[in-house]
Amino acid sequence: MDKLLIKGGVRLSGEISISGAKNAALPILAGTLLASEPVTISNVPHLKDVATTITLLQSMGVEVTFDDRLNVEADARNVPVRRAPYELVKTMRASILVLGPLLTRFGEADVSLPGGCAIGARPVNLHVQGLQAMGAKVTVENGFIKARTRRLKAAHIVFDTVTVTGTENLMMAAALADGETVLENAAREPEVIDLASFMIAMGAKISGAGTSTVRIEGVESLGGTSYEVLPDRIETGTYLVAAAMTGGRIRLKRAAPKDLEAVLIKLGEAGAEIKTGKDWVELDMHGKRPRAVSIKTLPYPGFPTDMQAQFCAMNSIADGVGTITETIFENRFQHVLELQRMGANIRIEGNVAVCTGVDKLTAAPVMATDLRASAGLVLAGLAAEGDTLVDRIYHVDRGYERIEEKLRQLGAEIRRVPR
Ligand code: EPZ
Repeated sequence: MDKLLIKGGVRLSGEISISGAKNAALPILAGTLLASEPVTISNVPHLKDVATTITLLQSMGVEVTFDDRLNVEADARNVPVRRAPYELVKTMRASILVLGPLLTRFGEADVSLPGGCAIGARPVNLHVQGLQAMGAKVTVENGFIKARTRRLKAAHIVFDTVTVTGTENLMMAAALADGETVLENAAREPEVIDLASFMIAMGAKISGAGTSTVRIEGVESLGGTSYEVLPDRIETGTYLVAAAMTGGRIRLKRAAPKDLEAVLIKLGEAGAEIKTGKDWVELDMHGKRPRAVSIKTLPYPGFPTDMQAQFCAMNSIADGVGTITETIFENRFQHVLELQRMGANIRIEGNVAVCTGVDKLTAAPVMATDLRASAGLVLAGLAAEGDTLVDRIYHVDRGYERIEEKLRQLGAEIRRVPR
């Protein structure tokens, strides 16, 4: 397994471009199954999860082609195979996003039940209950979700818990259903809005995306379109924290600062000077040590759980005591155990991590356990004294395009070490 070797202590500076959002590209690629004509999607990030999704679509018979800049052409006019196999689903839980589109377009879908992962059980009961409310017959047999319907019918669905992919799956299922479906307590993430905008461009009738109540008027079919994926707000936040931890000054282009307000406010509290424009954001730490901040993860527009590990890393070396409260997932402090091995002073009390900043972390061999935990460890390595070796970085490659290249552009001393 590849590793990343990071020599800490370099103050990051310079500018890089942000890639398209992983968590928008994945539902939008799944949404190509809804179209009766070819669609083109641009600004798709070069990520392992994107490659997995393209392989999954191709295994169903969707004709997917892409150029070296990952402008993707998908033609789902004929989809003979309506099945997502365990081999692919086990490597990427987001494969569950093909369930709604397959069922509403073709009346059938067999999708392997996605297992849990390092951060939690990750149930999909709300996805299944929503489809059943829309009239689908759904059973779980031999680890597969088997769904059948003649034609889905509109339903009024109230989510027990805010679920991002649950909202996305049911929004796609409702697009070709009979009547108007209402989703209450829906997720408000920018990636949900991006999926809805893509679907509207194909002819879907959706209102309220980005609010807690989304209305979808079913139509007979969806046509082709060309669509550009929005910038990745979590990638943006991750590099901003890297600069804040190393006292640096960076500028991020092709970004969408309006999508990470909660993160920018917390970075300001940590002492960073932030400037923003329509499609760029600049952070200047003026060589200072960050001040400790306290955060609580919440559904959008609250502080994103996908930025929690990165702020844990920043609090590890900050001046003062900061508390990190994780309310979305039940096991998302795996990175804390590795940060402690680097000298971090963090105490976990239930779903709260109490971080007392130390002057310096010391480099150590550490192991990534999940996508954002590994990002947090890379950030810790950038600020630590000595050479940090981060193992199992296939987790990083799932969500960060060319991370060592972009960090090197900012002056970091980092390289990929083959096993
Ligand atoms: C999406 O996951 C993201 N993934 C996650 O990003 C992100 O952390 C998460 O939303 C929260 O923002 C994609 O968009 C591909 P949820 P998702 O359904 O949709 C419970 C990353 O690092 N729940 O919003 O799977 C669930 O257990 C990844 O890029 C149910 O109980 O998350 C959790 O506690 C990690 N039943 C809460 O809801 C369900 O049927 C929120 O989960 C569904 C969810």
